[in-house]
Amino acid sequence: MRKLLVSVFFVLGLSSNAQTIQLPAPDLNSSSKSFFQVLSQRKSERSFSNIVINDATLSTILWSACGINRPEEKKITAPSAINAQDILVYVCRADGAYLYHPIDNTLEKVSDLDLRKAVAGNQTFAAEAPVSLIMVSDGVKFRHGNAETIGMIDAGYVSENICLACTALGLATVPRMSMDKETLKKELHLTDKQILILNNPIGFPK
Ligand SMILES: Cc1cc2nc3c(=O)[nH]c(=O)nc-3n(C[C@H](O)[C@H](O)[C@H](O)COP(=O)(O)O)c2cc1C
Repeated sequence: MRKLLVSVFFVLGLSSNAQTIQLPAPDLNSSSKSFFQVLSQRKSERSFSNIVINDATLSTILWSACGINRPEEKKITAPSAINAQDILVYVCRADGAYLYHPIDNTLEKVSDLDLRKAVAGNQTFAAEAPVSLIMVSDGVKFRHGNAETIGMIDAGYVSENICLACTALGLATVPRMSMDKETLKKELHLTDKQILILNNPIGFPK
């Protein structure tokens, strides 16, 4: 009996671990481009090779998006109204969809489905990218004011950080409002207050 319980515990433990990926630390020395070179080169690109983006590179992009840059205050790379830190970043790739947790630098699996076609919506080129990041504003963070408008502004900062990180790393991306919001809301298990705002498909340029 004890053996059985241990085996069940082990299997459950393994499967729960499989739902959370610990990302490698972001590599803040992975680009030799200066800040102004990055600004000079930033552009929207809509053509992606199918070369996989590894977790080390993904970690660096996610940290740039809204990772912790002042650990003592738990503050992040992107500004946000009243420091609400309302933007949730979801990672969609072939092996499923994940929610990024900046504090522990982990990805929590929220779906086994490949949702990249839903992210692409009617712009099929976007489904070719190996990774798509989605910015969702969590309206519960705002008790007063127009949560949706503030969320859009906060998402813009995060998306721009992603654009600049991709340029620094030689990756292609484009900020997009187009996406199949109905499917994504359902499959990412979003509440009515969690608003899908922008996405960035990311890949090596074709
Ligand atoms: C808020 C916002 C929404 C956008 N939505 C889309 C989109 O749905 N699809 C797309 O292909 N590009 C989208 N873009 C990218 C713009 O078309 C692009 O930034 C613009 O043409 C200027 O080109 P550049 O980024 O190369 O300077 C969006 C850009 C912004 C800022």
